[in-house]
Amino acid sequence: MKPEASPGNDEREAATDAREEIARLERELVVAREQAAEATDVRQLAKEANEKLIVAMVRLQELTEAAERAKALADDAARKLQEREAHLRVVAEFRERMLGEVGHDLHSPLVSISVAVTVLLREGASESQTGVLNGILTSCNRMLDMVSELLDLTQARLGGGITIRPALIDLAALTWSVVEEMETANEGRRIHLDAPSCVEGQWDSGRMGRVISNLIGNAMQHGDADFPVKVGLHLEDTAAILTVENQGPRIAPEVVATMFQPFRRGPRSAARSKGLGLGLFISEQTVQAHGGRIEVESSVAGTTVFRVRLPRFAAVTDETPHH
Ligand SMILES: Nc1ncnc2c1ncn2[C@@H]1O[C@H](COP(=O)(O)OP(=O)(O)OP(=O)(O)O)[C@@H](O)[C@H]1O
Ligand SMILES: [Mg+2]
Repeated sequence: MKPEASPGNDEREAATDAREEIARLERELVVAREQAAEATDVRQLAKEANEKLIVAMVRLQELTEAAERAKALADDAARKLQEREAHLRVVAEFRERMLGEVGHDLHSPLVSISVAVTVLLREGASESQTGVLNGILTSCNRMLDMVSELLDLTQARLGGGITIRPALIDLAALTWSVVEEMETANEGRRIHLDAPSCVEGQWDSGRMGRVISNLIGNAMQHGDADFPVKVGLHLEDTAAILTVENQGPRIAPEVVATMFQPFRRGPRSAARSKGLGLGLFISEQTVQAHGGRIEVESSVAGTTVFRVRLPRFAAVTDETPHH
């Protein structure tokens, strides 16, 4: 016979089950609370992120507006700069035209003075008068040189380039005669010339003579007087190469960058120069009109060399302006 189950057992089991169930529910409640707390954290984080996003968007908007304002300012500045450059070009052109006209008008009276002084010298003057008259003549010739430089400037800038009249000449003979002239005019200064007996080509003799005397004059004026100026001439393929070298302080790169422009001088040079600061500008224009080029190298060691390359038979025609 099967023993009868005591009624107390079932109740105990039920009570045990109920307790376990309660414990399980309590654990689930703890987990649910933790999850709820985490969810609150996540909501908080999301809220904070959202706020940050709004701040960032406002900042982005501000930056975009600032960038637009900066661009408008830059556009405005660029427009003003363009207007200013255009104005300066007009002023520069006016100034150069004026200088050309003044130069042109000064030419005749200067020639008259020079002729009158020459006549007085020829007619015979006392020793002291001769000294004064020669002084006037020298000054007159210097002024005539400046006037012709001003006319060259006007022609180079506004007339489409310097005009040359090339003819078959001997550049070696021309260089020798310029060197002699410069030595006579600058007593005590030595010039070493290294050149072959003849260098023939088609060049404008008067204008190339001025280029050579400008370069030698610069070497004497701006270089060290204790060292001789060295002039070299030789043929290289289809071109003549002329070099003028002097010792002296290195020409600063910022001076080199602008020295071929009109009226540009180095910081120490204005007092030493007798001219207008047009020598290199006109020399370069002349060399370019011959289809050549001119370069300068100035070393820290103190050697400055100007190097002119002149095609022997450049395709140039009489009276044709060249850039
Ligand atoms: N051989 C050189 N050594 C050092 N500096 C030079 C030399 N040649 C030219 N320069 C510099 O270049 C500048 C421009 O030369 P450029 O011949 O055009 O004018 P300038 O000699 O001052 O005046 P100008 O030739 O009208 O009498 C000079 O003022 C000088 O600073
Ligand atoms: Mg000069």
